[in-house]
This record gives sequence, structure tokens and C-alpha cells, in this order.
Amino acid sequence: MRRTVLISKHIYQEAVDQLIARVAGKDGLVCQLTDRIGPSLLDSAKGLRVVSNVAVGFDNIDVSAATQRGIIVTNTPGVLTDTTADLAFALILGAGRRLGEAERYLRAGRFNQWRINLLTGWDIWGATLGIFGLGRIGQAVARRGRGFNMRLLYYDPYRQSEEVERALGVEYASKREVLRQADFVTLHCALTPDTHHLIGPEELALMKPTAVLVNTSRGPVVDEAALADALQCGGIAAAGLDVFEHEPAVHPKLLTLENALIVPHIASASVATRTRMCCMAAENMIAGLQGQRPPNIVNPEVLD
Ligand code: DGY
Repeated sequence: MRRTVLISKHIYQEAVDQLIARVAGKDGLVCQLTDRIGPSLLDSAKGLRVVSNVAVGFDNIDVSAATQRGIIVTNTPGVLTDTTADLAFALILGAGRRLGEAERYLRAGRFNQWRINLLTGWDIWGATLGIFGLGRIGQAVARRGRGFNMRLLYYDPYRQSEEVERALGVEYASKREVLRQADFVTLHCALTPDTHHLIGPEELALMKPTAVLVNTSRGPVVDEAALADALQCGGIAAAGLDVFEHEPAVHPKLLTLENALIVPHIASASVATRTRMCCMAAENMIAGLQGQRPPNIVNPEVLD
């Protein structure tokens, strides 16, 4: 039987009505992390059977609402792990060594002489890297940190086995100790009610004034206004951000701060990885519509 699938474009929340109108009568929806898939949309698409997200994160989808309606939800894990870890590490390097600021300085024609203290930053090699969330991406960042001879601390509500910890060379510590000891803190947790504002004023106050915060997970994991204040008043040294609390908006203060290295949610944006993500989303969709178990199903209970 012929099935119809809606492939959404990059529609932000204000266009939810448009998406609701277009999904009516479709069997499948291939959506992106910018599409909010909630009960009203799901109810407007009576025959919808599969929602295939082109992202590993699926906080944009109300999974329990989909499950209640018998709709399969899928994501794209694995294929973007190393590409995302590369960008996280680029932000660690770039924020630590003030690359954005240095480039702006040079382009503004201000480089008129070498100076001993010109744009001095913070060493990455040998520093302590604090990883929040030691899933696939957190582990890939740990491997990169090892290459820079970093001490690797991590916090995750689910502690890894001793074997995994030993193989990666990571030490488990409490959230507080990771924040207190790390020179670089990098976030790799999914956005859930538990991780919303995981890093807020209290957590920022625990960090060293020389510390750098990197976020490639989801914007709301960090209280962006509190971060902007901490960066402005020297509470922490710098931040490298790929994601923002109210994307695509960025806190206006962050846009003015030299010590914020900010990029527009590009962590998985290599040609090869984005291609793999799209293919994976298509494969998940086809399997689901053919009555098979999609390889990357998020809510397997829906098939019970
Ligand atoms: C994801 O897949 O969740 C990423 O944020 C996309 O870059």
C-alpha cells in the first residue's frame, strides 16, 4: 500500500500551526530538532504511524504522547558521535585559547606588534576535563582529552562499569567535585526535566574563575542568563557554546562578550555525518511503515 510521509523543513516553534496543517493525512513524519511534536500535532494527524527525528536528541518530541497514540518514534544515534565530539573539542580548544577573540582582534587591524601577554589563554594539555554525561559522545570527548594528556573526571547519574572507566581513563566524581576541580567542563547529557538548568548560578559559582564551560548538548541544560553574568563578571573564564536556551535566539549579552565563543548548533554538521543522519532517518521511517521494528526506535514499548 502506498504511504505518504511529510519531510519537514527547518520550521521553528512559531510555525507549529503550519506543520499541523501539513501533517494531516500523512502516515509518517520526518522531522528535525526544531519541530515541536506534541499532543496537538499528533492528534491532528490521525493516521500517523512513525515520527522519525533527524537527530540523536529527541527532547522536541513528546514521546509518551506518541506512545499513548501508538506512534513509533525514532532517532539517529551513533552516526554523529565523533563529529559532535570533534566540535566539542574544537570549542574546548577555541574557548581555552581565545580563538574567536584573537581572530576578531586581527581582522580589526589591531595586531600591530607581538606582545608577551597578547591574548594569553588557558592550556588544554594536562588540564582537568570534567565531563557531564558519559554516553557515546561524552566518551568520544574523553578519548580526545586523553590525547591531550588531560585528567578526565566525569559525572553521570548512571556510573559506567570499572572496565569502561579504566579503558577510557576516566574517574567518577560527584557533580560538585567535577565542577570544583575541572578546568574545562563539557556537557553531554540529554535534555530532560532533570537536566534542565543543570548548570545555573550555584554550579557556575562552584567553578574555578579560570574554568571554561562547553555546551554541545542542548541549550536549556544551561541557565544562559546566569552564564552570561558569570562570563561578564569573571565568575568563569570563557565558554564555548553550540546550543542556546531559546534557539535560534542567543542571549544578547553573550553576543557582546569576547569570552563567549558561540556557533550556531553545528556540532554534527559535517557533510558525511548529516548525510548519514538523513539516511538513517529514512531507513527508520521505511522500516516503521513496512511494519518492521525500526533500527533506532526510541519507544519500543509501542510495539508490545
Ligand atoms: C542532535 O542530533 O541531537 C544534534 O544536536 C544535531 O546536531
